[in-house]
Amino acid sequence: MALRVVTQGAEETRSLGEALGGLLGAGDVVTLSGEMGSGKTTLAQGLGRGLDVSEPVCSPTFALVQEYAGRLPVWHLDTYRVASPDELLDLGWAELMQGEGVVLIEWPERIAAALPPARLDISLAGDREERVIELRAEGVRMEDRLAALARRLPESLKNGG
Ligand SMILES: Nc1ncnc2c1ncn2[C@@H]1O[C@H](COP(=O)(O)OP(=O)(O)OP(=O)(O)O)[C@@H](O)[C@H]1O
Ligand SMILES: [Mg+2]
Repeated sequence: MALRVVTQGAEETRSLGEALGGLLGAGDVVTLSGEMGSGKTTLAQGLGRGLDVSEPVCSPTFALVQEYAGRLPVWHLDTYRVASPDELLDLGWAELMQGEGVVLIEWPERIAAALPPARLDISLAGDREERVIELRAEGVRMEDRLAALARRLPESLKNGG
């Protein structure tokens, strides 16, 4: 199942993330793809809100992985600089994949072979204030979550505003 959303401005993208974050649960993996500046971290900020993370979510580029305490653990990864599978293991990947929290991954292309099949893949593209955001769910559980998101979203965000 797939859903296409168009946002006007960073705050709308955060609102989308907040609505989605409210639906996520332990073991969910969400990938965020798109060019630099496309809004991956901005969407992750909204996801943090929806997961009741009180501290601001920021770019984990230098830390590679940042853990936040929300209503469940939230791990935010930016794998842009991950060069080898060994580095992924050093990040604590095995622990992240045990399913106790939510895992958000920017630049998932870097670690494609390590990703679990059940996940939500989100891609962002656009310029100025507009972003076209495509959400694609794999696996029954994530399809259910995406269907619930589609029901909750304001009409203005669906199918191109
Ligand atoms: N509709 C929109 N959605 C998201 N961001 C937007 C939108 N319109 C403008 N922006 C701006 O685009 C920028 C997105 O930056 P962000 O750090 O989220 O990108 P990123 O994809 O994480 O980049 P990087 O690959 O460097 O990590 C921000 O400055 C944000 O304010
Ligand atoms: Mg980023």
